[in-house]
Amino acid sequence: MRWVIPLALFAAFAAIGYAGWGLWDSFSPGSGVAIVVDVPPLSAAAEAGRVAYDRRCLQCHGLHGAGTAVGPPLVHLIYRPALHADFAFALAVRRGVSAHHWRFGDMPPQPDTSRDEVEAIIQYIRELQRRNNVN
Ligand code: HEC
Repeated sequence: MRWVIPLALFAAFAAIGYAGWGLWDSFSPGSGVAIVVDVPPLSAAAEAGRVAYDRRCLQCHGLHGAGTAVGPPLVHLIYRPALHADFAFALAVRRGVSAHHWRFGDMPPQPDTSRDEVEAIIQYIRELQRRNNVN
């Protein structure tokens, strides 16, 4: 029976390791972030932004900024105005973004998106953020 203790220890460490990994993975950003976004009645500018957003950003940032498997949600506390002011959005569109907050990889520049579209998209995202208490 000399093997019982090492075996029990091994099983215990394996279990802790497994649980720890699971916890780490579920807390670390980029692992299946799925959020539910409540959509308010939009202003005319935000409605124009929604149209542009759906064309240029939805494929990665998801319907109403809720995120997808290839891009983060924009209706997220990380992107509230105090942490990502409007110019950060304009810069992201113009220059792209090197992956730093998440594990989705880099965001490529979106050169087809005009200044007016960016402005409208920001308006749209901010109205969604306010409605969802992302202030
Ligand atoms: C091909 C996928 C893709 C498309 C299309 C895309 N994005 Fe992104 N975007 C990303 C990824 C991935 C990140 C996260 C980078 C990181 O890890 O911080 C990101 C990050 C951002 C950020 C955060 C910038 C920062 O300073 O951290 C903003 C703002 C943003 N995107 C806005 C937009 C807008 C607006 C559009 C549409 C015009 C758009 N994105 C289109 C993939 C995309």
